[in-house]
Amino acid sequence: MTQELTSPSPAPQAPGTGRGPGWWRDAVIYQVYLRSFADSDGDGIGDLRGARERLPYLKDLGVDAVWLTPFYASPQADGGYDVADYRAVDPLFGTLQDADELIRAAHDLGLRVIVDIVPNHTSDRHPWFQDPELARQRYLFRPGKGESGELPPNDWESVFGGPAWTRTDRGDWYLHLFAPEQPDLNWDNPEVHAEFEAIMRFWLDLGVDGFRVDVAHGMIKAPGLPDIGHGAQAQLIGAQVLPFFDQDGVHAIHRAWRRLLDGYGDARGKQVIGVAEAWAPSAERLALYVRPDELHQAFNFQFLNAPWQSDALRSVIDASLAATASVGAPTTWVLSNHDVVRHTTRLGGSLARARAATLLMLALPGSAYLYQGEELGLPEVTDLPDEVRQDPAFFRGGRATGAVGPGTDTESAPDGAAAGGQDGFRDGCRVPLPWSGELPPYGFGPGGSWLPQPADWGGLTVAAQTGDPASTLELYRAALELRRRLPGLGDGPMSWAPAPDGVLALTRPGLLCTVNTLGHDVGLPAPGTPLLSSAPVTVDDATAQLPGDSCTWWAI
Ligand code: GLC
Repeated sequence: MTQELTSPSPAPQAPGTGRGPGWWRDAVIYQVYLRSFADSDGDGIGDLRGARERLPYLKDLGVDAVWLTPFYASPQADGGYDVADYRAVDPLFGTLQDADELIRAAHDLGLRVIVDIVPNHTSDRHPWFQDPELARQRYLFRPGKGESGELPPNDWESVFGGPAWTRTDRGDWYLHLFAPEQPDLNWDNPEVHAEFEAIMRFWLDLGVDGFRVDVAHGMIKAPGLPDIGHGAQAQLIGAQVLPFFDQDGVHAIHRAWRRLLDGYGDARGKQVIGVAEAWAPSAERLALYVRPDELHQAFNFQFLNAPWQSDALRSVIDASLAATASVGAPTTWVLSNHDVVRHTTRLGGSLARARAATLLMLALPGSAYLYQGEELGLPEVTDLPDEVRQDPAFFRGGRATGAVGPGTDTESAPDGAAAGGQDGFRDGCRVPLPWSGELPPYGFGPGGSWLPQPADWGGLTVAAQTGDPASTLELYRAALELRRRLPGLGDGPMSWAPAPDGVLALTRPGLLCTVNTLGHDVGLPAPGTPLLSSAPVTVDDATAQLPGDSCTWWAI
């Protein structure tokens, strides 16, 4: 490690002390799915240098922070969520020096940096799993059932399909809630706790501003690992507490991490945060992850899964705000990520709805996460040939769409706002970004792209959309700029205003937001002066015509 790596770069200024009001309470955080963001070396895979070179784009977009998906040493059995060395950078993505330079460059631009931490499982190539003695203590091995132990220890299914157990050459079985290459850690072992705290300190020392905690609801399993007795467990994930997900015991881990994060931040006058990826069955159970002594944020997947209907949206927004308010936390909104069908496609293949949904999300109190490419209105890619697929769930026949969460499959989308992906697997939302030009790889890098990009993305590139006021990119830029300019938007109060059927109207300090979820125009008394709209809105004689599937912000 060089001298430079030993002194972390200063984070952007946060008001007050490490505890302060909380920069994260209303931050807009942009998810960089690194392998698909920008490639600097021509191997067709995005990398840290490529991301660093594009940071000015993110600054200009107007986000507050960047979340980088795993770039650690990994055999890439699950896009890097199978970590073999938590303190090393995979050569695919660059070097530790590159990570250091990216964090510094982000901070110089006033952007914070969040990195993933993957505590539920490691790679099967991790040195702990490679050593049989260590492995027995630090992972979940059990004898099989049946006369000669030939049956798995219980009926748990892998999220990616098939049994959650694999038998070793020694005859015993190990648990993997995801791919067999991702053995679950034994969190009853204090050495596991100590190791993850040390890993966090390693990255904090490098200057990161927080962690996105992967499968934050999974580390603790019910005592005795009881059977579930349900043949289609994927349908239960996020719908109820399971013996392997959302067990109460996980909260003790999050409390310990909060102490670590607060202690680290207080000592340096900064705020470093944890955001939970937790698929909890209700807003109330999700709120437990953001109690004052636990993590700072938890992705609100109930909102992501809501159908495009005014009543459903209103009730999920109310339930989310009430649940987080009850523990004093902000709500953390999200519409797309690397595990679900892009919301342009998920909301009935309608860019109009996607743009409206985004404006709604950005008008709500709290923090919001954007997934790379949604600012371009990218759709899910639905015609990837089998030979280019890489999602491990595709090969294991796992569940369709939202491989780690419920409700985005066609059956559960009540208004037919169907998932709409190719077949629900996750490569279609991970296709590399189009930056410029008329042909693939559209400026993604000097080589090709690890997944093929559609031939008709020339009009969707960053270059093509920049400066076009009707483009989705300029809509995002304008919304984020207004969010910064309007005091009280972000972490302020919200109330509902009267609105016709199918329309939502909510007021924020200085702003009224209308959402027409119907497929046709709706007229209503103009509530003010239009500030920004996802579709052209007209005001005649004090009557506003809200276009179908649109959202408008009004100055009041
Ligand atoms: C999380 C990640 C997902 C990954 C899984 C297993 O849900 O978002 O991409 O496959 O964890 O680590």
